[in-house]
Amino acid sequence: MQKIHSEASLCIRFVQAKDLEAVLHIYNQGIADRIATLETEAKPFSYIEDWFNSHQGRYAALAAERHGEIVGWAALNPYSQRCAYDGVADLSIYVRREHRGTGVGTPLLSALEEQARRQDFRKIVLFTFPFNEAGQRLYRKSGYRIVGTFEKQGVQDGREIDVMIMEKRLGSGEDVQV
Ligand SMILES: CC(C)(COP(=O)(O)OP(=O)(O)OC[C@H]1O[C@@H](n2cnc3c(N)ncnc32)[C@H](O)[C@@H]1OP(=O)(O)O)[C@@H](O)C(=O)NCCC(=O)NCCS
Repeated sequence: MQKIHSEASLCIRFVQAKDLEAVLHIYNQGIADRIATLETEAKPFSYIEDWFNSHQGRYAALAAERHGEIVGWAALNPYSQRCAYDGVADLSIYVRREHRGTGVGTPLLSALEEQARRQDFRKIVLFTFPFNEAGQRLYRKSGYRIVGTFEKQGVQDGREIDVMIMEKRLGSGEDVQV
């Protein structure tokens, strides 16, 4: 098994099929908490199986494991089908509720960025909510800049929600010749 990052009690590696129950549990916590996604209904296992199948190869999914338990995951997602945006990935990151604020998200995001560089992505973009304080803190300290905010972009539980776009150039893009 390839370890992408290992520090103290935390091991970051690629998601494997055996992790999917835990990955789904963590995602469904994120849905229930209403701070990370506009999804409102818990997803069934078939959803995460499809997700896993589409997160092989270039669009990696990483798991953070602590004392044998999956405590978080992060993934690169396609940003656009247009070839001009081939070097741009979107990201998702979710930490198990009980482990948030304990230093999982920071190395997990860093490991995902390293993986993105290895896969020749030039940039990561993300969509987040201005009221997601932990997400904002993680992204800002990791070097993401605010591109702008779509006002009242989504609807959740009957409320209109602002959606903020953030981005980070990964470095190699500075020198890309096209
Ligand atoms: C956002 C999330 C991924 C961050 O992961 P995490 O493991 O909690 O992050 P870390 O423990 O590495 O902390 C990252 C920074 O955020 C800060 N932070 C953590 N929780 C916080 C909170 N509730 N409010 C404010 N800041 C917070 C930490 O202090 C740290 O900053 P510091 O290094 O300056 O002290 C995690 O909280 C999470 O899964 N939230 C629910 C899902 C989600 O919002 N995903 C992102 C969707 S855009």
